[in-house]
Amino acid sequence: MTDATEHRTPAPTSAELFERARSVIPSGVNSPVRAFGSVGGTPPFIVSAEGALLRDADGREYVDMVGSWGPMILGHANPQVVEAVREAAGKGLSFGAPQPGEVLLAEEVTARVRPVEQIRLVNSGTEATMSALRLARAATGRDVVVKFAGCYHGHVDALLAEAGSGVATFALPGSAGVTAATAKDTVVLPYGDRAALTELFAQRGGEIAAIITEAAPANMGVVPPPEQDGTGFNRFLAETAHAAGALLISDEVLTGFRASREGQYGIDGEGWEPDLMTFGKVIGGGLPVGAFGGRAELMGLLAPAGPVYQAGTLSGNPLATAAGLATLDGLDESAYHAIGRAADVLKSAVSEALTAAGVPHVVQSTGTLFSVFFREAPVRTYDEAKSQDTDAFGRFFHAMLSQGVHLPPSAFEAWFLSTAHTDDVLDRIITALPQAARAAAQG
Ligand SMILES: Cc1ncc(COP(=O)(O)O)c(C=O)c1O
Repeated sequence: MTDATEHRTPAPTSAELFERARSVIPSGVNSPVRAFGSVGGTPPFIVSAEGALLRDADGREYVDMVGSWGPMILGHANPQVVEAVREAAGKGLSFGAPQPGEVLLAEEVTARVRPVEQIRLVNSGTEATMSALRLARAATGRDVVVKFAGCYHGHVDALLAEAGSGVATFALPGSAGVTAATAKDTVVLPYGDRAALTELFAQRGGEIAAIITEAAPANMGVVPPPEQDGTGFNRFLAETAHAAGALLISDEVLTGFRASREGQYGIDGEGWEPDLMTFGKVIGGGLPVGAFGGRAELMGLLAPAGPVYQAGTLSGNPLATAAGLATLDGLDESAYHAIGRAADVLKSAVSEALTAAGVPHVVQSTGTLFSVFFREAPVRTYDEAKSQDTDAFGRFFHAMLSQGVHLPPSAFEAWFLSTAHTDDVLDRIITALPQAARAAAQG
């Protein structure tokens, strides 16, 4: 008799998987930032995750600070979310017909975020912003869209100019393959620059369909919307757009249901309303969901009732809505309190370690969301974000990784926490910080 294990091929390592991936997948990844291009090295391949922990193909364990770039706010393999998905899967994976979960998820979102009377579910944040833009252009009969440098809205042609996230990480000006005609209808302004916006509207207000902004930029690192004379930047955008008959699209794909229970709108949404809002990440609980929504009268322009075509084979998928609903169900005030507390603990610990090692840095946050910039002065614009010491971040990142803490592999990203980042998990991160800070200092 032979031992059954004798013939088993050993599981491939991360390095072997990456090598194979590179021959069949461009750069070996299905989304650019995963390739570790800006921090160097090769990415661990994750085979499983539970709570705040990831396990890679080499048997190593990491504290996860990426959280799938936002969705995993209750931690990985959360029992309630997994059970909801399991139950939904047992009833069929996709119907291509209306199903109850879509109604429940739409009711939950509209109950949380006042300006949203109706939402359409899509399959990604990119689809959400793309559709919101089409709707805004149809509603106004205008073509031009204004965006801010450093704000990322997904890989929509019209919105790739000077975007953050992966575009920032790889220092791309935008993207090849975007036509001149598309680029012509996009105006990019520095974030927070009220004078530039006022000037633009004075000159071209009648051509502008919409301003789109991240409700709080978090794809160039976290930049809280600046106040001026008691008026928040988002409110200023709404007033400027509305005075010219244009719309404001507030992109809450990243901040939605994360920065607070009502997203960034729950933080600065007093006395103003965006016309359209976009969501993703948390509302899918780890499955592919995006959404855009707004006033019923605007949303009524969508097909089949209205002339704006928008559709999706898998939109409102029953597994995805089950995961999203179970995630939002788990996000009560105490969950946000716990994440906010964890963020406070970590922000102080990072700052303390970097200060002790003499590394210039600034920690910025909005609600429970924060990031660390490797430069002395606060960051208000994309140019300022780009002036940080990304090499120092790279050394810091790898020193954390080698001690079992998986930070986002880019200096331009938020650090994502979850309810599973309990004190013992935070202790593991805090223990790793001094060595990483010293590595950052050794330029
Ligand atoms: C603010 C914002 N909008 C849109 C998107 C695009 O979402 P997705 O990656 O699901 O297409 C992202 C993704 O990071 C985002 O952060």
